[in-house]
Amino acid sequence: MHPMLNIAIRAARSAGNIIVRSLQHVDHLEITTKGLNDFVTDVDRLAEQEIINAVQKAYPDHAILAEESGVQGDSDTVWVIDPLDGTKNFLHGFPHYCVSIAIMVKGRIEHGVVYDPLRDELFSASRGDGAKLNDRRLRVTKRKELAGGLFATGFPFKYPQHLSAYMDTFNAVFPQVADIRRTGSAALDLAYVAAGRLDGYWEIGLEKWDLAAGVLLIEEAGGVVSDFTGGDNYYKSGNLVVGNLRLHKQILDSITPHLTDELKK
Ligand code: IPD
Ligand code: CA
Ligand code: CA
Repeated sequence: MHPMLNIAIRAARSAGNIIVRSLQHVDHLEITTKGLNDFVTDVDRLAEQEIINAVQKAYPDHAILAEESGVQGDSDTVWVIDPLDGTKNFLHGFPHYCVSIAIMVKGRIEHGVVYDPLRDELFSASRGDGAKLNDRRLRVTKRKELAGGLFATGFPFKYPQHLSAYMDTFNAVFPQVADIRRTGSAALDLAYVAAGRLDGYWEIGLEKWDLAAGVLLIEEAGGVVSDFTGGDNYYKSGNLVVGNLRLHKQILDSITPHLTDELKK
């Protein structure tokens, strides 16, 4: 295993321990509003600091892009950190959230970890080395048609201006598939597509730390990821469609006619 992946795994597990231990005090947590329907707690911050300390101890020269504390340092190697993906689930006692850590070298994701502390499920990947859930190798599903498939999506709760176009994409996909989940953790949705638990996924307006690790998991599990034009501008636009080769195209073809100009990027 690459030493950087090893540090990322250890950091994700320690952050996961902080999250699980704090569950006892979830009713007394201080909640701050960052933006529309967007909240942060001390647990997000503590978990993030735990990860940053681990990274800086092992690699003091590397840069960091973390959801709650922003950018630190300047380096070709950047650790992209979401200390708690699924904060709203966490706050409501809805047991579905994770820690997501990706390592980007010269603009390319090379390693990724998504850790679900409640199920002790560790999804990890290094470029060219495949994706794993704990010790088991992952593959995306082999389904050929949308029919019968289980998909996930995210609602644009921070972007009311996109709700109508989003609902049109939902209306286009929903009648063609067996069902759609909205789990509340984008990073776990992506890990589940890599693991073949979901057939595909799409969402508007993700941040880099939501998607970086999950995108590598999917690519290393044989899946396809793109923005809403079929291109690879998703780190910038935050608009993401994923699936196996066939289903990725079928979701993209279904949603494209409903996109506004702003979403065609
Ligand atoms: C959010 C979750 C959610 C997704 C949002 C993200 P957070 O991350 O991944 O599923 O729909 O776009 O912002 O705020 O819980 O880290
Ligand atoms: Ca997130
Ligand atoms: Ca978060």
